[in-house]
Amino acid sequence: MKMIKTIPEIQAEIRKQREQGQARTIGFVPTMGALHQGHLSLVQACREENDVTVVSIFVNPAQFGPNEDFEKYPRDFQTDESMLKELGVDLIFYPAKDEIYPPGYSTYVEVEKLGQVLCGKSRPTHFKGVATVVLKLFNIIKPDRAYFGRKDAQQAVIIKRMAAELNLDVTIKALPIVRDPDGLALSSRNVYLSPAERGAALHLPRALMRAQERIQAGLKDAAEIKAGIETELRKSPLLTVDYVEVATLDGLEPFPGSPGGQLIASNNTLVAAAVKVGKTRLIDNFILGEI
Ligand code: PAJ
Repeated sequence: MKMIKTIPEIQAEIRKQREQGQARTIGFVPTMGALHQGHLSLVQACREENDVTVVSIFVNPAQFGPNEDFEKYPRDFQTDESMLKELGVDLIFYPAKDEIYPPGYSTYVEVEKLGQVLCGKSRPTHFKGVATVVLKLFNIIKPDRAYFGRKDAQQAVIIKRMAAELNLDVTIKALPIVRDPDGLALSSRNVYLSPAERGAALHLPRALMRAQERIQAGLKDAAEIKAGIETELRKSPLLTVDYVEVATLDGLEPFPGSPGGQLIASNNTLVAAAVKVGKTRLIDNFILGEI
């Protein structure tokens, strides 16, 4: 496994890899490090489906708002490196901030509308930062396939839309959420939670699981689904609700609430929620159908 920090070096290395055989495929997993089993599930799929696996580790300043956790975001390169080595990753791209955003940097890409709903309402510049860094990483690595988690369903939808609309020659894969045994979705941010907060955070997957059961039992009214989730979430005083939304998967268009509440489709529907537990923002979702 090679660890590379500069763009010219990773480009030369990828060129070399491609020259080693015809139709060799490059798979790519972009991450911000502090790796857990959620990330590693993407890496494993990437390894299985490609000749060469590239993982990037870059805490992207452009996707953090001014009052967010960029400075204290967990960073542990050595542990990440040994986990990736064990999985048989070929290349780690670990650039410094100035390598990606040199002084005076000015070019950004924005996926309109999709980036302004759900998480985009409370994080208005977040998806512009995500789309920009992912496009830059795609241009640097030129992967055949790139792997994302459904934990960040909106992100996966936005990257898919960007790849389609900018005619990128890459297949975007969106893989299932990996959870702790108690149901909490794995997240690098879970380390911020105190034991009491972690207990409260469990209301999020539980509320969503309960909604999923009710949908399976025949509930179709979007407003009722949302209200049910909100009621469950409000049971914990440690938890504040950012949003609960029921939306179409492709366009992320919310189903309007009652009265006149709209019935959700049996597939192609995203049920997503974001909460704050203390200072920590957590997201979770489930999808009816496929991304
Ligand atoms: P990061 O939060 O490090 O996540 C990297 C990838 O791992 C994302 O595609 C995310 O959806 C996936 N992931 C995280 N937790 C997961 C879980 N519990 N189950 C399955 N997949 C999970 O997402 C980012 O970084 C950044 O926005 C990035 C795409 C790297 C751009 O900076």
